[in-house]
Amino acid sequence: MNSQGVKQRVRILRILNSRDFVSGERIAHICKISRIAVWKHISYLINNGVKIRVYPNKGYEFLSFGKRLLPEVVKLHLGKSEFVKDIFYFDEIDSTNEYAKKILRERSLIIAEQQKKGKGRLDRNWYSQKYKDLLFSFILTPDVPYIYAGIFNALAVISVVKSLNKLYKLDAQSKWPNDVVISGRKISGVLIEFSAQTDLINKLIIGIGIDVNSTPKVSNAISVKKLIRNDADRVKLLVRIMKELEHYFDLINLKNFKKIKRDWMKYSADYLQRVRIIQGGERLEGISGGINEYGNLVLKQRAKHLIIPPISNARLKIKY
Ligand code: BTN
Repeated sequence: MNSQGVKQRVRILRILNSRDFVSGERIAHICKISRIAVWKHISYLINNGVKIRVYPNKGYEFLSFGKRLLPEVVKLHLGKSEFVKDIFYFDEIDSTNEYAKKILRERSLIIAEQQKKGKGRLDRNWYSQKYKDLLFSFILTPDVPYIYAGIFNALAVISVVKSLNKLYKLDAQSKWPNDVVISGRKISGVLIEFSAQTDLINKLIIGIGIDVNSTPKVSNAISVKKLIRNDADRVKLLVRIMKELEHYFDLINLKNFKKIKRDWMKYSADYLQRVRIIQGGERLEGISGGINEYGNLVLKQRAKHLIIPPISNARLKIKY
């Protein structure tokens, strides 16, 4: 994607959004480009769903950002934060996590409107509906030993939980290791993949899928739209989550794993519940003691405390 073009269109969008009406000449003057170039950028935006009324030979009136997750719109809403360096946007892709693995560019955000081979944990597929859901991956280079990889599951899940609760007044909860649930029904999942060099994490990919405006086909899933009975603004939700991720990444840099652990417990659906862990053919039962500072589950069984890492193939069921 032409990053210079994206930058110009972010400026143009900012100008359009701050006025009722603006002439092409004025935009050209502010952006130091020709009126033809202004028109090319505006046609690009209109062709990609941004609603702009054109008054021929006079100017433009901004109506709305439209419904796509355009990098221009996302960047504009991210504001001054430098946490996200680059945005890669796809109308369709196999999997944003797979693309992230190919580029491995630090703090790049890969967004797709649809995935043909969306991946879930435990080799499952991740289904979504085009232009309706949120599918994205973010690449980080955290300076921590790989034994902490599991804590990234936790921070990604709570970033989604807090964003949903803040924006839509929902009661989302985290469910170990990678789920966001509302009244026991799954609304989002996180897939962490990483490579390690010696004992340090080299690159880490946080993949997040959220059922936003779709109608989930599986009975134990739910979408934001189903809950709020209205379309949710996907850009707002994505930007809110990126802000939360930034906050948690700062805590990682400060090695403040305790705070992440505490936040997880605050929103946990399984903490202190009787749970069953299914791991391969094995079943373990006990009380969930939440997570430790590595993101591992602490399973309490009378005198014993079992530690279960999220990078295993373990699944957790809450026994109500
Ligand atoms: C799970 O619940 O099992 C995890 C689902 C993770 C899905 C997201 S969608 C964006 C990213 N790309 C993928 O292929 N998977 C993750």
